[in-house]
Parts: sequence; structure tokens; C-alpha cells
Amino acid sequence: MKIIKAKDYAQMSRMAANIISAQVILKPDCILGLATGSTPIGTYDQLIEWYKKGDVDFSQVTTINLDEYKGLSPENDQSYRYFMNTHLFDHVNIDKAKTFVPNGLEGDSEKACSDYDKIIAGFGGIDLQLLGLGNNGHIGFNEPDEAFAKGTHCVSLTQSTIDANARFFASLDDVPKEAYTMGIRTIMQAKKVLVVVNGRQKAGIVKEAFFGPVTPRVPASILQLHSDVTVVGDEEALSAL
Ligand code: F6R
Repeated sequence: MKIIKAKDYAQMSRMAANIISAQVILKPDCILGLATGSTPIGTYDQLIEWYKKGDVDFSQVTTINLDEYKGLSPENDQSYRYFMNTHLFDHVNIDKAKTFVPNGLEGDSEKACSDYDKIIAGFGGIDLQLLGLGNNGHIGFNEPDEAFAKGTHCVSLTQSTIDANARFFASLDDVPKEAYTMGIRTIMQAKKVLVVVNGRQKAGIVKEAFFGPVTPRVPASILQLHSDVTVVGDEEALSAL
């Protein structure tokens, strides 16, 4: 595992964008696994800037996102599809037909998940998977558990996540209670993994996940067993190491 220290969020974002750009330059038709959340927003902003300067070309790239809320349409501004469109896809020359997010409108969870696994397998897996790190060590929507989940699966959101999300919705009833997420096996099968992490509030979990025991209680800890992981963190997030 390589750990790269950036001085701040802006530098972390540029370093992560550099790694993604290098992947796209080396393999223009690569399969990128992408994440939502606040951490990668600066990385996406940087990629957009370099695309506009003509330095990176997404025309042959395929993307596969980690997760999506069950029940939300792509037009819902809380959906992860909407997030990806507004933070990246609408601003670069990617073919949207080659961008994949689990189908939140598929009510049959088994079908939604097996369809997604078939899509990923059809591309022969992911070349570079970008990940954020949850405060409790989750990656994707793989929350602390008794065992590592394998393929794409449906998760019930914890009450604290539902409550935290409530501010974005008209009422508590509108808040999604479930989500589809890529499983740990699929993430571990990516050829390369890039984790971005910033802020002092992540310092404890960074240490636990990457230097503590490998346990499904800290899902990101499994990344210690992957042969090609790069963590790019700002000084605050890496301050406990
Ligand atoms: C996003 C995702 C989540 C986030 C994690 C960190 O697709 O799957 O695991 O990466 O919750 O979120 P932020 O970056 O908002 O701290």
C-alpha cells in the first residue's frame, strides 16, 4: 500500500486527478470505478479543468459507480446518478451510455444486483477503482458487518444514515431506506485502488483501516490485502500515522 501525503484538500485532489489521468492516458478505453461523496468532488473538478485544457480525453472511457439509493430516479437530485452527471459527466466528453450506476428504479433487488455484476463482469473488471472512506470504515455502502459482502447487494441503511439524509428530502418518508452497492469482492478485484481521504475527522479511521487488524468490522481494512492500493490523504487525515 502506498500512502501519499498532500498538504491540503486541493493538493490531494490534484494528486488523485493525476493518477486517474495517467490511467486514462495509458489506457484510453479503461474502466474506471467511481465514487460519490464529498471527498472526490475536488478530484472531479480537477479532471474537468484538465479536460477543458485538452489534457485528458474521456471519449473511450467506461465508468462504473459504487452505489445508488434504491427507489431514486436518475433525475432525483439526491441520486448518485444525478451527482455523477452534475459533478463530472456533464462537463467532459464521456459517452453517457458508457457510464454505469446501479439502477435505483429496479425494485427487484436481486435483479438489480445481478444485472450490475453482469455489467462489471462483461467489461472484465475495473482497471482503477476510486474510493472515499466512511467515518466508520465503510467503502461503497459496505457497512461494518460480521462478514465481508461479496458481489453487488442491497443494504438497509442504518437509522442514523436515514436521519442524517432527512435534511435533503421533503419528509422522512421520502428518504431512501435501502441502497445497492458494489460488494467487497468486486472492489478487491479492481486492478488498482485509489483511496482519497481528507480532514482531521478521518484520522482515526485511516489508522484503524490501514494499520489495524483486517476485519469486516472495518470494511476498508480488507484493502491491506490488495496488491495495488494508493491512499492519497491530506495532512490532517494522515495525522495519526
Ligand atoms: C460514495 C460512497 C461512500 C463514500 C464515503 C465517504 O459512493 O460509496 O462510501 O465514499 O461515505 O464519503 P465522504 O467523501 O462524503 O466523506
